[in-house]
Amino acid sequence: MTAEVIDKQAVAASFSRAATTYDQVAELQRSVGTNLLERLPKDLQAERLVDLGCGTGYFTRALNARFQQPVLGLDIAEGMLRYARSQGPASCAWVTADAEALPLRSDSQQLLFSSLALQWCPDLGQALREAHRVLQAGGHMVFNTLVDGTLQELRDAWQAVDGYVHVNRFMPLAQLQQILASAGFTHWSCEVETHVLHYPQLSALTHELKALGAHNLNAGRPGGLTGRARLRALTSAYESFRQSAGLPATYQVAQIILHKGHQA
Ligand SMILES: C[S@@+](CC[C@H](N)C(=O)[O-])C[C@H]1O[C@@H](n2cnc3c(N)ncnc32)[C@H](O)[C@@H]1O
Repeated sequence: MTAEVIDKQAVAASFSRAATTYDQVAELQRSVGTNLLERLPKDLQAERLVDLGCGTGYFTRALNARFQQPVLGLDIAEGMLRYARSQGPASCAWVTADAEALPLRSDSQQLLFSSLALQWCPDLGQALREAHRVLQAGGHMVFNTLVDGTLQELRDAWQAVDGYVHVNRFMPLAQLQQILASAGFTHWSCEVETHVLHYPQLSALTHELKALGAHNLNAGRPGGLTGRARLRALTSAYESFRQSAGLPATYQVAQIILHKGHQA
């Protein structure tokens, strides 16, 4: 999302509130994070690993199982970490921190994993500089993030209703590629996956976004969003996108691999 519009305290509070509902609705998040895990080099070994923006710890546990090593789960939302800690395993450690200011020593980590978290950083370039700093030479960072085109139907429907941005803004792919190219890594790759989810009605989508903690946190949104007339107008605008499978919601997911070579 873009720099000027993210309030980190609001992000942390929103995800903390969603900690106990997140896993019940996080089907897409599971699927794109699993795709990311599958992109890890098959022969990769790592003893010092971090899951950045770990949320409920689903992928922290998956990394723990795959590498048979303790994993550090790091997240800005204390409520998420409380929940993650309660799920175990005891060998993992959990720390409240901001991906843009990592409380980790330079050259200390071998693998950084991050699924659907870094789009919440106001300055992705800073998060990647921090990642580069804490990685050892030879280390990898794999992450995914949402780019422009995500929730486009909802954005367009709101636009038709009142012209305001009610949907989180996501970075254009070209801007992401520029940031990746200048982040100091020796090699990088970025591939975009398009996922289209379908919902029987609009309220199913908006309830899901709320349960994920991922509803709109852009500044400047007008109050009273749920006024009945406006909701009716939104519902009718969104209906124009209906397909035989239901109301579509598109997600554009960039899957990224970064390698810090020995000379980087
Ligand atoms: C959509 S959830 C993804 C959670 C987990 N990675 C998963 O795939 O299930 C996004 C997570 O990123 C965290 N987050 C947002 N901004 C962050 C930041 N600046 N630093 C660390 N974590 C952050 C949120 O608190 C939330 O738990």
